[in-house]
Amino acid sequence: MLSEVIATRYVTPLREGGSLPGIVEADDLGTYVMKFTGAGQGRKTLVAEVICGQLGRRLGLRVPELVAMQLDPVIGLGEPDEEVQALLKASGGLNLGMDFLPGSLGFDPLAYEVGPAEAGRIVWFDALINNVDRSWRNPNTLVWHGDLWLIDHGATMIWHHNWPGAKTSAAKPYDASDHVLARFGPDIASAAAELAPLVTEELLTEVAADVPDEWLVDEPGFDTTDAVRRAYVEALLPRAATIHERLTLGAPAKARPSQAPGWLAERLTPRPHPTKKSGGEGR
Ligand SMILES: Nc1ncnc2c1ncn2[C@@H]1O[C@H](COP(=O)(O)OP(=O)(O)OP(=O)(O)O)[C@@H](O)[C@H]1O
Ligand SMILES: [Mg+2]
Repeated sequence: MLSEVIATRYVTPLREGGSLPGIVEADDLGTYVMKFTGAGQGRKTLVAEVICGQLGRRLGLRVPELVAMQLDPVIGLGEPDEEVQALLKASGGLNLGMDFLPGSLGFDPLAYEVGPAEAGRIVWFDALINNVDRSWRNPNTLVWHGDLWLIDHGATMIWHHNWPGAKTSAAKPYDASDHVLARFGPDIASAAAELAPLVTEELLTEVAADVPDEWLVDEPGFDTTDAVRRAYVEALLPRAATIHERLTLGAPAKARPSQAPGWLAERLTPRPHPTKKSGGEGR
């Protein structure tokens, strides 16, 4: 179970997030990034945040703490923005909170060096959860006190949008060529050897138990919320054992240069060197 807090003040919207998350204070005096059940992305995004965020934390990756946040929409009555008002009104009850990391910066692959071991762990984890949202376009990675922190696991586990085809979908490969950490030479083999054995049925059952019942009820094709939880376990468990064999990193090649910053064509073509002969003064 996630710990539960009560939202006490809506501070401000985070407009860079597509789902319009907000910074919200709670009765434990904590400040959280709140993701709303009433957002257009739907409650499955929140289920994915809990399962993947908790799994990442249990595997030793840095993911800010998650809490369940009770929201009384009345706290947003003074909020002038109509879009925010509508979102709060549609989100009474339990929502998701992620510990707010004050002063964190968005990860910039050109400004921050990541070692192959850490890059490998993160890319392997994203392959496991089928995360399509950690690309150089949208890194969903923060730098805080000099460390990398992983946020936004809403666009993962695509199989939960079509449970009858989940087994086939969860067996599919993962293409990490666009991953924001692909350029750091991720050591996938070591990451798989270290992390895959930790992803046991017990661990997955525990993280699935952290999802509030409210977000699982009335899932078509399931009689109970525990049956839905079980489906998440059954999709992730076999994937953990073998996904490293189906993970492509797509190293940049001259024939198909990646458009990621840092992999610009100029890096792949040696620059003419200024020489004395050409009378160059050097640049
Ligand atoms: N825990 C946090 N601490 C500090 N800032 C955060 C935190 N979580 C999110 N943010 C900021 O809010 C932005 C939006 O958050 P997030 O990416 O989780 O929202 P989203 O609506 O899922 O976004 P997306 O458009 O990527 O789907 C992030 O890019 C980051 O700048
Ligand atoms: Mg995001």
